[in-house]
Amino acid sequence: MSDAERKPGTAACETGAVTLEVVRRDPEVCQFVRKADENLAVLGYTEHGPRHAGLVADIAQNVLLRLGRPHREAELAAVAGYLHDIGNGISRLDHGIAAALIAQRVLERLGMPPDEIVEVMCAIGNHEEEYGEPVSALAAAVILADKSDVHRSRVRVVDPDTDDIHDRVNAATQRSFLAVDAHAKTITLQMEIDTEAIRLMEYFEIFLERMVMCRKAAESLGCRFGLEINGTRLL
Ligand SMILES: [Fe+2]
Ligand SMILES: [Fe+2]
Repeated sequence: MSDAERKPGTAACETGAVTLEVVRRDPEVCQFVRKADENLAVLGYTEHGPRHAGLVADIAQNVLLRLGRPHREAELAAVAGYLHDIGNGISRLDHGIAAALIAQRVLERLGMPPDEIVEVMCAIGNHEEEYGEPVSALAAAVILADKSDVHRSRVRVVDPDTDDIHDRVNAATQRSFLAVDAHAKTITLQMEIDTEAIRLMEYFEIFLERMVMCRKAAESLGCRFGLEINGTRLL
């Protein structure tokens, strides 16, 4: 199927191409997103429920649309973004691989063609920093979207005295936005962090590996990755 055939409003969509909205409303997907978030709450992780899934879906889609990529490719990035963490419904360890395999079964049931399923699986299976690589545009978009979701709304219990560095850094982040400039070929994570609450060094302590992954992902899309904190360009 060509890209042109897959753009919204064309025959491919009107005849039932699997979209983000179809996936988001699927009862089995809802169950897995909820269970993944419950498991990670038990383990003390930040929010990984419908908010994180939806945000990663939207950002991944926007990254590709802003770079002028085909609409159907961007929609598939949204699907992969929504499903990327459902493997946590089974186990945190290797949850990217588990999520890809769960997604395969769900997307087959929903009628997605194999050439699209394999792209979605590949993006999901490459989102974790331990073993993920931006092997495709979809994978790069999901990496950028996932790693840029740092925000105080992800903290389950806001405790300024907490020992958990992830909670402290997220709680201190008042705004985060992934700016894509297709003309300048830059993808910049812009953040506002309350430096009264944390030292900037703490941010890099836990997110350096993620920023390296974002740099590789941006480069694979032909862009330079930048990081701006409180209006100052750091990368
Ligand atoms: Fe993940
Ligand atoms: Fe995630």
